[in-house]
Amino acid sequence: MQNLETDILIVGTGLAGLSLAKYLSEQNPNLQITLLSKTSIDECNTYYAQGGIAVVHDFIKDSYQQHIQDTLLAGKGICDKKVVEHVITEAPARLQELIQWGVELDKNNSGELDLGLEGGHSQNRIVHHKDKTGLEIETKLIQVVQNLANVTIRTSFFATDVLLDNQKCIGIIGFDEKSEVTSIVAKATVLATGGSGQVFSVTSNPFVSTGDGVAMAYRAGAKLEKMKHIQFHPTALYEPNKSQAFLITEAIRGFGAHILNHKMERFVFEYHPDGELATRDIVSKAISDEMKKEHSKHVWLDVRHLQIETFKTKFPKVYNYCFENGIDVSKDLIPITPAAHYQCGGIVVNEMGATSIKQLFAIGECSHTGLHGSNRLASNSLLEAIVYAHDSANHLISLMDTIKMNKVEIIPIRYKNIHHDEVLQFKNQLQHFMKYDSLYANTKNTEKVYEMVTEMSKRFKMKFKNYNSHPFLCETYNLIQTAEIILKDCLPKRYRVKSVKKEKTIS
Ligand code: SIN
Repeated sequence: MQNLETDILIVGTGLAGLSLAKYLSEQNPNLQITLLSKTSIDECNTYYAQGGIAVVHDFIKDSYQQHIQDTLLAGKGICDKKVVEHVITEAPARLQELIQWGVELDKNNSGELDLGLEGGHSQNRIVHHKDKTGLEIETKLIQVVQNLANVTIRTSFFATDVLLDNQKCIGIIGFDEKSEVTSIVAKATVLATGGSGQVFSVTSNPFVSTGDGVAMAYRAGAKLEKMKHIQFHPTALYEPNKSQAFLITEAIRGFGAHILNHKMERFVFEYHPDGELATRDIVSKAISDEMKKEHSKHVWLDVRHLQIETFKTKFPKVYNYCFENGIDVSKDLIPITPAAHYQCGGIVVNEMGATSIKQLFAIGECSHTGLHGSNRLASNSLLEAIVYAHDSANHLISLMDTIKMNKVEIIPIRYKNIHHDEVLQFKNQLQHFMKYDSLYANTKNTEKVYEMVTEMSKRFKMKFKNYNSHPFLCETYNLIQTAEIILKDCLPKRYRVKSVKKEKTIS
């Protein structure tokens, strides 16, 4: 077993993790910072984000107040207003930093930032890089962080659990790229592990989004909140049996696309006066209800009436992907379906990203800051990630002198070979259970799915005993546990755990 040390350990290399490393390094080039990525450095939700970042930029037409109001309305009354105000007013400063770090954003003919429109926004305020904003941010930030002398990046590192000593987090344990059991002890550990879309049968999230941070924090006893608020994106391309559904960015609806049922009606207006530009929860529910009414597996997105050359320039990724898959969007309708897209709840954190466990922090999608309420406003997530990375960096720097790294005995975990297919069966079955209706149809249905998942969880534990003896085993267990947490949170109070159940972090 290897025992490593670092000052600050960051688990996850999306926008949250990378920008945190950059802020920390700028403030103290002598700190040792270690960044862990589960597979390759760029495999994360940020990479696939198409839309952009919501920022008030045109202060003549727009205002912080309007962005705040839109966020609160989308979140259905359960956002934390102070957090909303803070994040939105910090946005222009954080945007300038991204631009300084080399991120290129689209400009209009006057040379000003081109501001796109997405559902739930009362003004055009989405800054973007065509329909590849996440890819642009991720690639530019990787270049920046790779050049920082005090940052060590370790890819293909699977963290199984956080390590606890006297109720404090002292690092993590897991498997390195050679499957060697490795502990990394740190003064502060930051979970920036992203979301949990892979819990569901249809998701826009990549295969790495398996709720690892949430499950690790849960097992360590950290407080979680609002886990039932899983946002379904209304317009993923309907491609049966794909583990990651291709997203058709909401910006395309902002550009004028229509959603049609099989009778070629723009039915979303029957559900909400804003039609296709209502918030995501409303549009996803409208589509799901319409699919049930029509007994269909998808509805349609229609862009045929739009200016095709402009469309190609603005949305090359969507245009090309559809074209390569036999859909010429200038002539054909695009089959779409809602897909699990974003985890609005997560590990409870304060304004500095601190969790309920000392020396354990969480930023980005795995955290719950209070910004999103029950339904995230489009393009507020990259914004939240960078604002919290910035704020927690300041706090972490101030903490460093106050924390001593004590020598503690770390009980190793053991690597075990597994039959991959046996584990995969559990993952497939879980995804089969977890659909839009599992959360949103009715309590009776959710209760039934919860019971099936709980039963499956028991079988899993009986069969495999030590979930932490292999990365794929642990990842599958993380999916199952995250599903249980989500479902339980959807059910009436009697199902909910009073305090989280602690499990041994190491065995
Ligand atoms: C999209 O481009 O529609 C996704 C952006 C987001 O999730 O905010």
